[in-house]
Amino acid sequence: MTATIIDGKAFAATVRARVATHVAALKSDHDLTPGLAVVLVGEDPASQVYVRNKGKQTAEAGMASFEHKLDVATSQKDILSLVDQLNADPEVHGILVQLPLPDHVDSAEVINRISPAKDVDGFHISNVGLLGTGQKSMVPCTPLGCLMMLRDHHGSLSGLNAVVVGRSNIVGKPMAQLLLGESCTVTIAHSRTKDLADVCRGADILVAAVGRPEMVPGDWVKPGATVIDVGVNRIPHPEKPGKTKLVGDVDFASASAVAGAITPVPGGVGPMTIACLLANTVTACCRANGLPEPEGLTA
Ligand code: GUN
Repeated sequence: MTATIIDGKAFAATVRARVATHVAALKSDHDLTPGLAVVLVGEDPASQVYVRNKGKQTAEAGMASFEHKLDVATSQKDILSLVDQLNADPEVHGILVQLPLPDHVDSAEVINRISPAKDVDGFHISNVGLLGTGQKSMVPCTPLGCLMMLRDHHGSLSGLNAVVVGRSNIVGKPMAQLLLGESCTVTIAHSRTKDLADVCRGADILVAAVGRPEMVPGDWVKPGATVIDVGVNRIPHPEKPGKTKLVGDVDFASASAVAGAITPVPGGVGPMTIACLLANTVTACCRANGLPEPEGLTA
């Protein structure tokens, strides 16, 4: 079997187009412009690239983008007071504090200071609890993107066996909650799971989110399964000395020969994450103004 490639880049473009349509309607019908504030503390090069891309795509969707770049030595108190200011700003509907924060900063306190209604990352403890109890929440962007792709590919996911490899708060745990919400039978596996290969072989839907390059080989994949590869790992290029190559947590060559469908790296889950951040900002704006949830942009 040769797997269908789930094209995250193309799908993310359709999500962004949906976002732009909602934004245009919010402007014309309600004189509202959804606004996203991004806070970056320090000069981590990868974070700077992410923040630049977020700002660019926010503006392209017709939304307001507010960037706050703080010195690496900014105190906890000053970061919290910026969050307080953004919480109170009616033009800001979504707030994202780029992680990781410098070592002297208590990240949990900063995240939990964000108003849950503006927490477009879905990391606030209230949103984590709401998702865990099946209530309306802000859903973390990467798992939301994975869910959108799975729904698009499968329609109903009810009754399918889903295995999520990875138990992070940002991807693994919320992904499992979302799949449970779709009536999948869900297993969360991780590096200590016994017989991990066998557990993976039982999956109709296999989500790999461990951060280990090409850890899942094709013979862990059930024939016909759908494989979602969340990994983004940079490895030395096998053919070009001195160069690097981006790979996922799944060995694409062997897995794509067995799976029914698979997301590539790059061009799979990655582009969906920022698209879902924009979607969450529109959702937050609608909720803040008592308007109906935007169709096709929520979990
Ligand atoms: N750093 C890497 N990914 C993310 C993310 O999804 N949200 C935030 N806030 N920081 C990140």
